[in-house]
Amino acid sequence: MKALVIGSGGREHAIAWKLAQSEEIEKVYVAPGNGGTAREDKCENLPFGKGPAELSGTGPVSPQGQAALAAFAGEKGVGLTVVGPEDPLGAGIVDLFRARGLAVVGPGSKAARFETSKAFSKEFMKKYGVRTAAGREFTRAGEALDEARRHFADPETRSLPMVIKADGLTAGKGVTLAEDLAAAENTVTALMRDKSLGEAGASVVIEDFLPGREVSVLAAVSVVPGKRGVIRPFIAARDHKRRFEGGRGPNTGGMGAVAPVPDFDGQAQRDFLDAILEPTLKGMEAEGLEYRGFIFFGLMVNAGRCSLLEYNARLGDPETQALLPLLDSDFPELCRAILDGGLGDFPLSWKPGAVCAPVAVAEGYPGPYRKGDPIRVDGKILAETGAKLFIAGALWDEAPQAGGPGLRTSGGRVLAASAYGAGPEEARERAYRALEAVGFAGKSCRRDIGRE
Ligand code: AMP
Ligand code: GLY
Repeated sequence: MKALVIGSGGREHAIAWKLAQSEEIEKVYVAPGNGGTAREDKCENLPFGKGPAELSGTGPVSPQGQAALAAFAGEKGVGLTVVGPEDPLGAGIVDLFRARGLAVVGPGSKAARFETSKAFSKEFMKKYGVRTAAGREFTRAGEALDEARRHFADPETRSLPMVIKADGLTAGKGVTLAEDLAAAENTVTALMRDKSLGEAGASVVIEDFLPGREVSVLAAVSVVPGKRGVIRPFIAARDHKRRFEGGRGPNTGGMGAVAPVPDFDGQAQRDFLDAILEPTLKGMEAEGLEYRGFIFFGLMVNAGRCSLLEYNARLGDPETQALLPLLDSDFPELCRAILDGGLGDFPLSWKPGAVCAPVAVAEGYPGPYRKGDPIRVDGKILAETGAKLFIAGALWDEAPQAGGPGLRTSGGRVLAASAYGAGPEEARERAYRALEAVGFAGKSCRRDIGRE
């Protein structure tokens, strides 16, 4: 069978790599892919603007780009498509593929609102009793500013940051934890009056601050109207979103991930099932939603009690780079179970042990960063660690250069070194040794992935 993966990050490299390991997969097209998928066994990139004529110019978010991809999948007989990122999901790529009779894993644009609209997801949580921070949507800046004044005047909440979230998709820039009234006012004004994030900030959700530790639970979902739905959670993972050690500095797309999460113990897991997963499933069924894909529960866990911070309508990045190497089951079979209704009986199994996947980033990230630097990899050391490099922001450059063809940095998060160990410490030690085997100008990483 031929497969198609949509996206260009480390998550998509991991998905393509895992698909390619299955015996039934003969080829994995990746649109547009990156320097990792360019070199991966059985994989072929379809770069927009450079690849086959039918894909030229446009990406998977525009109607033309989506139509071109669907036509390509139809012509080549692609039997399974997996959509990585949220933008094409929100833009309805799954609806189009399904309308053409193509097997595709991901929610349609309506169900993707779990991620594309914070107001929709907050309403859903309230309606179906999914435990979350108390919060409200504001569509007028004046009312949001009044709320901010109340928050910082009230002795009960004055000392707590105020959590302000832009409603729409913002590539991780939409949440502000305002420490004082001035910061809250600036945020509301920038989002709602100055439209600093465009229409995504035209309405905001303001909610209570929740203390605790964050955990990511990814899950496979098969919910079809009129049938009993199934959500099968994966083992837990943890992303480290802040740029610097100890959880300091600006938020990033993720500086590294680990799986499983030792502090997400039996009690927290049961609480997650009762307070988050079950009501989510019941709500999806009650709303008559169709959801066949992956969902991501972003949890805040405090003394074994879970609250939901957010849903994402896809696999997480970089969590996927830590989770898929631990997945023992066949990935195309899991995808088929999601699509065909066999997910309830699917033998989802995980290797014992742990994976640590720290990310190497380019100088300047998450601000404006350096790019175009050649990447050197010491293959011998890498092989000793058994780690896999999942490439995110790097291209494969065939042009002869000092040292021959190779990877060149092209993004802020350049790659993750994903290493397996019998336990978290062994995984960590191998992952950091593997990251040492990678060199490029301005490279840096957090040293405490899995320890923070
Ligand atoms: P979100 O996009 O909703 O996951 O928010 C991004 C980040 O903001 C989360 O990963 C948390 O670190 C933080 N955050 C969001 N909502 C809250 C909250 N209610 N209480 C504390 N931290 C939060
Ligand atoms: N790691 C967080 C996300 O994928 O959104």
